[in-house]
Amino acid sequence: MHKLGILLSGRGSNFLAIADAVASGRIPDAQIAIVISNLAAAPGLAAACERGLNAIAIETNRRKRAEHDQEIIATLKAHNVDLVCLAGYMRLLSPGFIQAFPQRILNIHPSLLPAFPGLDAQTQAFEYGVQVTGCTVHFVDEQLDHGAIILQRSVSVLPTDDPHTLATRILDQEHIAYSEAIARVLSGTYRIVGRRYLPKSQP
Ligand code: GRF
Repeated sequence: MHKLGILLSGRGSNFLAIADAVASGRIPDAQIAIVISNLAAAPGLAAACERGLNAIAIETNRRKRAEHDQEIIATLKAHNVDLVCLAGYMRLLSPGFIQAFPQRILNIHPSLLPAFPGLDAQTQAFEYGVQVTGCTVHFVDEQLDHGAIILQRSVSVLPTDDPHTLATRILDQEHIAYSEAIARVLSGTYRIVGRRYLPKSQP
């Protein structure tokens, strides 16, 4: 049984989509072992508690990033987590965190990377005037929104869009993409060549 650890900071809609996919078997042979928020007031944390999942806040309490991360790492390890999923987790990870889970941390970003990394990617895309944007699930490395890409889904920008309507349609695609990417990674049927995510070669 694969054990997922979810890190979030906000509303948690991606977390809920993952939880639904685990419950329905679309992410096979997996369970959510722990949900961690860096903010006690995150609605996603309350939603995790309502679902009866292990869910805790680990706040920074003015600690340095590496020290805060060490407590999160220890909690994930104590729950035998083998895949960490960032789901709207609004903090950068320290190098020690990434080294503790090599190629085992995923993130979802609301643009077609490498376009529009960082905050407010949907508004960045809207204001730039691109006609196609979307979302990206990728491995986390030490650079922001940078690791090898597992899966992308595209969304057309419509003449009638504003940043909010665009973000809503991207979010619908995020909810599909994240679970599919997690299932693919857990299946182990891939290899990373350079930055490229490829199917595992047949024996
Ligand atoms: C999503 O747009 C995700 O792509 C970004 O943060 C947002 C989190 O939304 N990383 P939610 O908390 O999952 O609803």
